[in-house]
Amino acid sequence: MPASESVIRRMTRLARRHGAINLAQGFTDEPPPFALVWGAITAVLGGSDAGIRRLEQVAGWPGAGGDAAPATLRDALESLQEPRDELNQYSFPFGLPELRQAIAAYTARWSGFEPDPETETTVVLGSTEGLAAVLAAVGRRGDGVVVLEPFHEMYPAQAEVFGLTPRFVTLREDEHDAAWRLDPDELRRAASGAGMLVLNTPHNPTGKVFAGDDLDVIAEVAHSEDLVVVADEIYEHIVFDGARHRSPAVRPGMRERTIVVNSISKTANATGWRIGWVLSPPHLTPAIRAVHDTLVVQAPTPLQKAAVALLGMPPAFFRDLARGYADKRAILGGALRAAGFRMTEPRGAYYFLADYRGVRELSPLDPLAAAMHLIERVGVAAVPGDNFYGRSAAGARYLRFAFCRGRETLEDAARRLRRLA
Ligand SMILES: Cc1ncc(COP(=O)(O)O)c(C=O)c1O
Repeated sequence: MPASESVIRRMTRLARRHGAINLAQGFTDEPPPFALVWGAITAVLGGSDAGIRRLEQVAGWPGAGGDAAPATLRDALESLQEPRDELNQYSFPFGLPELRQAIAAYTARWSGFEPDPETETTVVLGSTEGLAAVLAAVGRRGDGVVVLEPFHEMYPAQAEVFGLTPRFVTLREDEHDAAWRLDPDELRRAASGAGMLVLNTPHNPTGKVFAGDDLDVIAEVAHSEDLVVVADEIYEHIVFDGARHRSPAVRPGMRERTIVVNSISKTANATGWRIGWVLSPPHLTPAIRAVHDTLVVQAPTPLQKAAVALLGMPPAFFRDLARGYADKRAILGGALRAAGFRMTEPRGAYYFLADYRGVRELSPLDPLAAAMHLIERVGVAAVPGDNFYGRSAAGARYLRFAFCRGRETLEDAARRLRRLA
């Protein structure tokens, strides 16, 4: 199937053209933690562990006080570049051993199971490449892949690229209970004879955090239909109102049939670094690594080196992440509701899937026209809701807004949205 341009990235392009605030694509305009930036600088400049150690000890401006003191930061850094290098070169295709060990320890700490760095952990180019490698390695042409809609557009798009057939199960918005519901019978029907199920929790775009009953049903269906569950957990730390992320891998009997894809993209404000990982049962790992190695060889060596610092951050760092997003949710949520949008409060991730039928200017329009109206007349970019649905027409009432930008950007967006009220 010829892949087409992502609607989300198209909205980003249109936002740039029209000077609109981009609340379409899920990335922030705030920097990564400095420990990560420093890790990258020292890896690129130091070139080896010994070089990094030397750089960590440099105090003050190199050559300060002497006649040859460098005039600029650039000159100073150039004088520190090591002559021998290994960290800007190819490294293990499956990931630096120390990063794989850090991923294993981090997973034990946050998810409650410890993958083997040698046989169950593969470093990839973000969860996007991780999912692609999994689908290509585990799927057999013609297999069904159960996808819960609304979905991240890459799930059905990638499935089709690899000759797999998406089978959609629709999450239904329960307006009265402010929740998104999974129908176990619909899941059972879609799963019958399928090979895989993709589960994203916390969920983009609804904000649902799958817990208790839902995870039990998914585990039961995975067992009865012999499914491999691929869990996309990249929003694991972005949870609100007491919700807790749980990986399906820790359900009884699920570890050997669950593959986790994850990345630093959202946790570290580093979507452009393309550092992610796949945790897979040992019998599936060689095939996943073979696809990864064949297509991309490896993730960037110096950025892998730096990512180790992130995974070892103290718990407060991860908790503050959620707190910061809770404030942002309040800023954008207030503005959207005042403008007439209705939405179920997200309990995780950083999106509103907002019903726009109560917004007078937008209600007669289809989702693409409504998104274009917002970009051109209001100066805010969102994603048309039907982009997240494959089978049902339920998306026709929604626009998705991301609240991951900096506070000032969100406040600016809130001011612009007032025009709709
Ligand atoms: C649910 C989900 N999965 C995966 C991705 C892509 O993640 P990565 O940067 O790790 O490839 C996104 C990005 O928005 C996402 O929302």
